[in-house]
Amino acid sequence: MAQPPPQVPPSTITPQPKRTGIHLAVNGKPYLHAGDPEMPLLWWLRDYLQLTGTKYACGIGACGACMVLVDGKPEHACLLPMQALAGRAVTTVEGLAASDGTFSALQDAWVSEDAIQCGYCQAGQLIAAHALLRKHPQPGDAELDALPNLCRCGAYPRMRRAIQHAAAARKDGKP
Ligand code: FES
Ligand code: FES
Repeated sequence: MAQPPPQVPPSTITPQPKRTGIHLAVNGKPYLHAGDPEMPLLWWLRDYLQLTGTKYACGIGACGACMVLVDGKPEHACLLPMQALAGRAVTTVEGLAASDGTFSALQDAWVSEDAIQCGYCQAGQLIAAHALLRKHPQPGDAELDALPNLCRCGAYPRMRRAIQHAAAARKDGKP
């Protein structure tokens, strides 16, 4: 006698929507992130793109070591999930120089004022200074005092001089 077909229990698996990925630009190049949409941008930049200039320090948006530009505005990459970046343009410290590697006026000033001590905070400092000069081409004391990034080496006076140096160079018509 033929056996009845086995009873298959109903599946308890809930189908997930298909991941189509997140398109974004980094330093002017297009990328697709098809992994976890909750991954912080900082992880993706450092571990997937090998853009290790941007640093991990506090991880809670308090120090600025992970600062990058998103659509031209400074943001903390440690706090930004990849899903917040669809269609957006990210600039890291590696993207501040021209495509042929020529330093910007700010980077030149950073070198000539010897602004760096240990260097750990410096990617974030450069990004914050770049954004400041975009908004205030000739920043005064109030704007410089309001820069949020921390430097445990206390290199603030040298970085401040570098920003003023870059602002003066721009006033003279340099890029
Ligand atoms: S590591 Fe992101 S703000 Fe400190
Ligand atoms: S240069 Fe060392 S933490 Fe800023």
